[in-house]
Amino acid sequence: TSSGSGSGAKVLKVGSSIDFAPFEFQDESQKDYQGFDMDLIRAIAKEMGYEVDIQNLGFDGLIPALQGKNIDVIISGMTINDERKQNVLFSDPYYQSGLTMVVRSDEKAITKFSDLKGKKVAVQIGTTSEAEVKKIEGVEVKVLNTPADCFMELKAGGVDAVVNDRPVNDYFITKNGAQGVKALEEKLTAEDYGIAIGKDNKELQEKVNAALKKLKENGEYDKIFAKWFGE
Ligand code: ARG
Repeated sequence: TSSGSGSGAKVLKVGSSIDFAPFEFQDESQKDYQGFDMDLIRAIAKEMGYEVDIQNLGFDGLIPALQGKNIDVIISGMTINDERKQNVLFSDPYYQSGLTMVVRSDEKAITKFSDLKGKKVAVQIGTTSEAEVKKIEGVEVKVLNTPADCFMELKAGGVDAVVNDRPVNDYFITKNGAQGVKALEEKLTAEDYGIAIGKDNKELQEKVNAALKKLKENGEYDKIFAKWFGE
């Protein structure tokens, strides 16, 4: 980890793909990045005695940025999986997620994942959605930069479905009041989010886990959770 200039405060350089409400997004009315992940990493850093410097990077550029030591950690709704574990360390899981599908409201032919054969599906680049949908035989996969691009493509008729993380799909439809689309119930996967840390930075991993544990014990985690997900 790097040290800050002047004041001597330690700075935690955080990478995130700010395109994933309610985990990380930017509101027109506020210049600070907002969301569950943003509140959580600020609380973790504070607990560790660090200040945060959050960099907005494309989702597929996050692990390379961590490997290149341009950032110290990634918090970006990132799913813990074995493939990524070859390149990064993960914190303990901090959120249970999974993949669901969004289709147009008038869609009749697609009610479950097995209906996707012969259909066009949009996914965000570098995500578990991209990997999982590519495993389904006979699907034409359109890989786009952000979930917002995927939803736009769906509304424009360029694809028949979007596969993306359930809480993000739900937030897009209920909180953002997206018109003309609906989320389907079926879950393709169950996934846990973790904070990614440089492969050689076991010490930072331990600090992050200790801070996360503390926040779970002292009720701070629950407060942040309730703020974004209610209850
Ligand atoms: N959970 C999925 C994954 O790890 C998607 C995460 C996308 N995050 C984002 N900020 N766009 O691949």
